[in-house]
Amino acid sequence: MKPAKLILWAICIFSMLTTSGCQWWNRKTHSLSEPQPIKIGLSIATLQEERWRRDRDYFAERIRQLGGELIVQNANNDHQKQLQQVDYLLSQQIKVLVIVPHDLNRAATIVQQAKKAGVKVISYDRLIRNADLDLYISFDNIKVGEFMAEYLVNRIPRGNYVIINGAPTDNNCYMFNQGYKNVLQRYLDEKQIEIIFEAWAEDWRPEEAYQYIQTLLSQNKKIDAVIAANDSLASAVIEALAEWRMASNVMVVGHDADLSGCQRIVEGTQLMTVYKPIRKLAYRAADLAMAMATGKELKIDGQPIFNGKHFIKSEIITPIPIDKDNMDVIIKDGFHHREDIYLNAPYPRQN
Ligand code: BGC
Repeated sequence: MKPAKLILWAICIFSMLTTSGCQWWNRKTHSLSEPQPIKIGLSIATLQEERWRRDRDYFAERIRQLGGELIVQNANNDHQKQLQQVDYLLSQQIKVLVIVPHDLNRAATIVQQAKKAGVKVISYDRLIRNADLDLYISFDNIKVGEFMAEYLVNRIPRGNYVIINGAPTDNNCYMFNQGYKNVLQRYLDEKQIEIIFEAWAEDWRPEEAYQYIQTLLSQNKKIDAVIAANDSLASAVIEALAEWRMASNVMVVGHDADLSGCQRIVEGTQLMTVYKPIRKLAYRAADLAMAMATGKELKIDGQPIFNGKHFIKSEIITPIPIDKDNMDVIIKDGFHHREDIYLNAPYPRQN
């Protein structure tokens, strides 16, 4: 080999060695000096409904903005799975566990497990009963139920009501139900309305809501109004009504402001829904989780709530009732696009 070529080869090999050497050194010193990102675990009971995917995404976005690292596990409506998944999260050295419990009672063992490992726990959207939680953050769920019942009873002050509650394992369902009853009781006492049927949908399964309505209609029951505990159940109720050509004759309310729920409202098959600003909830929960993880003092804006055993610090966000006349609230908040909501209905005239 000519000397010039030899020198060229030598330069090449030297620079390759030094570059990879530098990279190795950089990695080594970085891992020694750079602090590892704070890990937060999110154990979510389900992603079945549209809203939970937003909760997850907004929560992840905010944790990332704050320099944390998020590990998410979805329990698919299964308590045992949630238990195992939290075990896994704890093994990943998370500092805070944010949990949407599948089972309001049994999740207390999960909390115990986390506390034993020195991990703080935030009950997100759904309360865990009898557990030593560090925080509960949610919406005013009694208000959600009151908004739904108020809206309905203002339109149908007399008649036959049907109530389809959500999962009996979800604490929120009892709060929604309390809200319905707070409003309806007076009308029931005065015999203006009658609840001809009330049932619960296991794991919030829309098929159950569909089946209940089918059965009632096939028994020739006269239904004037239906409270469906969320928009997924309302969708199934309306599907069953539609098969009997009764979709816009029976008044149906739901909640969550799902896109399809909003579409049904502007199309006229659903009366109203309740909008819960998910971004606000998820961002606030992420802020508080990161503050907890770094040992910062928390400034909680709310009254403690009793969960059967402990008074838990809590923050509660107010929901907003939505009908065809104030759909703009949702659009302005960027929750849905106008053209998606009015896919099959004309835009209302702007004044
Ligand atoms: C939430 C609702 C949701 C339902 C079903 C409830 O706990 O508050 O927003 O639709 O669970 O997942």
